[in-house]
Amino acid sequence: MKKIRRKGRLRIDRIGYALGIIIFVILIINIINYIQYNNKVYDSVINSGAKNALIEKKYKKLKIYDKTIKLIKSDDVSVVIKDKNSKTYLSSKNVEKNMNINVDIYNKRLKYKNFPWTKSLFIENKGIIRKSNKVEINLPNYLLSNKYIDIYGVTKDDNVVPVSLKEKAKRKIKIKTDKRYVRYFITFIKLDKIEVSDSTVNKDSIVNLNIKYIPQTATIKDYEYTKIGNIFKINSDGKLVAKKTGTGKVTIKHTIQNIQATATIKVKREENKVEIKNGITYVNGILIANKTYALPKTYNPGKLSDEVVEAFNKMKEAASKDNIKLWIQSGYRSYETQEKLYNGYVNKDGISKADTYSARPGHSEHQTGLAMDLNIIDSSFANTKEGKWIAENCYKYGFIIRYPKGKEDITGYMYEPWHVRYVGNDLAGKIYKSGLTLEEYLGISSKYKD
Ligand code: DAL
Ligand code: ZN
Repeated sequence: MKKIRRKGRLRIDRIGYALGIIIFVILIINIINYIQYNNKVYDSVINSGAKNALIEKKYKKLKIYDKTIKLIKSDDVSVVIKDKNSKTYLSSKNVEKNMNINVDIYNKRLKYKNFPWTKSLFIENKGIIRKSNKVEINLPNYLLSNKYIDIYGVTKDDNVVPVSLKEKAKRKIKIKTDKRYVRYFITFIKLDKIEVSDSTVNKDSIVNLNIKYIPQTATIKDYEYTKIGNIFKINSDGKLVAKKTGTGKVTIKHTIQNIQATATIKVKREENKVEIKNGITYVNGILIANKTYALPKTYNPGKLSDEVVEAFNKMKEAASKDNIKLWIQSGYRSYETQEKLYNGYVNKDGISKADTYSARPGHSEHQTGLAMDLNIIDSSFANTKEGKWIAENCYKYGFIIRYPKGKEDITGYMYEPWHVRYVGNDLAGKIYKSGLTLEEYLGISSKYKD
């Protein structure tokens, strides 16, 4: 009996010993797995922010495959999933099989002291918020310039928990507090690098810098120009405009971090599309009548275009509100009328003088039905309140001062503060802001062949 009992005891001891070893090995494997797994998750948090990941719905669990981690169970991390339309899902519920989306991965076990992103604003939860309550946060300006901010809570054990991600940045933000968190902080994802591609733009156009932010998820994407050289200028809207042809460098710097990038930008003269339809020249769709480009003798719209009259009436109405009276002194002129006028001036002043103020027949803008002389045809008109009003405001109604002061060699005519040409609101605004003549803007000449 004794023997048997001893033998049985021995067997139990051996089994117990073996079980102990197995449990110990399993424990060690688990601990190793846990450490490795955590490191992987942690790496992914550092490296990801948001990543393009392939999501597979399998066994009702979310599996995320990407370069850093092979598999993360949704139970272990907070996952914010956004589809192409930036719709945010906080669970795997709506994830379609093999859907290519952006994923933000937040390790629930991430310690605050290890938090890899730039920390910003802190709100201490000084035990005041026992029950569920709301706290108001005042965002500093540099965070206001972001579209979104992320708010995290920090637990007593120093763990970081996302509280409100992709919260719309406003001056005052109210968040629901939770007694689990001893403090909150707002973070922005640090930018590592900005890249600006070299590009080619047309003169007088707005330069749209092709900027790449790394990581793409960096929260603050604002920059300021530090160097723009003499080829570019910043316009009143804060936009970069190419003012001269040539090659220039533009350097931008991140508004908060000391990160900058430089691009080489080539500014070329716009290559115009010149079309001739029924003998009429259009440059980029704009009908041109000047010393280089003539209208056919037969071109006879007979009156000012309806669009021009309508635009003039609007301008007249706006001017009258400023106590300015506008009238059309000379509108449409036929080829024949211009011929008589011009010949009269030639008889009076000779060809070369007449050519400085009167167009030869076929070359007058008045024949287009798109140009007119306003109020008083005299150089003193520039100094009248009407003349000044026109110079400052006509572009708002689609008109440009066609023969400006100091541009006589370019337009081919003396300064005519009374002569306006309709080009439409868009182009008129661009030309006005550029300070250029129509010839300069379109890169065309105005010279008679002889
Ligand atoms: N006075 C302008 C140049 C014309 O005759 O058309
Ligand atoms: Zn005129």
